[in-house]
Amino acid sequence: MLAQRLRGIPPTIFTEMSALAARTGSVNLGQGFPDVDGPPAAIARAVRALESGANQYPPGPGVPELRRAVARHQQRHYGIELDPDAEVVVTTGCTEGIAGALLGLVDPGDEVVLLEPFYDSYTAMIQMAGGVRRPVTLRAPDFLLDPDELRVAVTPRTRLILLNSPHNPTGTVLTRAELQAVADVAVEHDLLVVTDEVYEHLVFDDHEHVPIATLPGMAERTLTLSSVGKSYSFTGWKVGWATGPAPLVGAVLAAKQWLTFTSGGPLQPAVAVALDEEADFPRALAADLRVRRDLLCGGLAEVGLDVRVPEGTYFATTDVSALGWDDGLTFCLALPERAGVVAIPTQGFHDSDAGRHQVRWAFCKDAGVIEEGLRRLAAADLRR
Ligand SMILES: Cc1ncc(COP(=O)(O)O)c(C=O)c1O
Repeated sequence: MLAQRLRGIPPTIFTEMSALAARTGSVNLGQGFPDVDGPPAAIARAVRALESGANQYPPGPGVPELRRAVARHQQRHYGIELDPDAEVVVTTGCTEGIAGALLGLVDPGDEVVLLEPFYDSYTAMIQMAGGVRRPVTLRAPDFLLDPDELRVAVTPRTRLILLNSPHNPTGTVLTRAELQAVADVAVEHDLLVVTDEVYEHLVFDDHEHVPIATLPGMAERTLTLSSVGKSYSFTGWKVGWATGPAPLVGAVLAAKQWLTFTSGGPLQPAVAVALDEEADFPRALAADLRVRRDLLCGGLAEVGLDVRVPEGTYFATTDVSALGWDDGLTFCLALPERAGVVAIPTQGFHDSDAGRHQVRWAFCKDAGVIEEGLRRLAAADLRR
């Protein structure tokens, strides 16, 4: 029954694993949604908006107050100047930004160079756009970007480089030097860069998120995507934005007007409040997440897993081969019964075999939930 453009795309693993968690009463360290909501002032603004008539279609590109708040956010954090009327479009989460960018910029047969492991909506949308993916693998244990591998992935058919930093699922934050290597390739081959920066504020220790749009020669070829979901713990609001040169933002808008046209009428002004008036919330969230990261990573190491402590995002990855498993999916399918815990195998986010032993754990959960998960893991026999 399924149209060719969707054939072979598996259902998202997050739904499957969250359903497994619910069915088995497991602690869900799989899907990346926080247990605690974002700032009350933003919620109060959404309630006021609902009660005061913001219940009809907002403008397709987004309400002006949110577009202006997004422009101010990019200016405040990164010194990026944007025209809120032409260089900002509001999307239904970053997910629609990804869809709009790929449908709006990629023709059938065009190649898209992207980091592997990939967030699963990238591969689905590249296929729906008729594009061809060309992965560049971030390999365990350090998940560094190899500039030579990047160069080899680029061909005369390459249309764009799709970046994600901080990177889900590895937790890598690309360094300025790595981003410069991407920028050099993009400029040399006159490529567009689409960069998914939804974890832009969730960076730990002395690591720094550098938007690739801020590197020389990149502003004019970079489309930047983000959303309120991760930075402000409002994943269910699905309000995101795409920013960059007017023709690139216009391409997203051209596609998105036929996807949702618009969404989140009462939420958009509330997101503007979050960005403008709760500018410190993401930093406090990151500080708090760092403590939970250390709690989770310490506990996972204690049960014998090989842990990669992430530089950003709210995910840690582990290698399960130390416990005798030859595959992360088998481990994750056995885990609810063995331990009453759910995690995400990342092998499905690869074309290559590089992720076969990798399993991702979320630490955006309450410390108590993480502790309970760790208690269960410690009490279980996790060896194959
Ligand atoms: C890398 C990445 N991009 C995009 C998204 C989706 O963002 P949104 O919920 O704003 O659509 C996620 C959510 O997990 C993600 O991890």
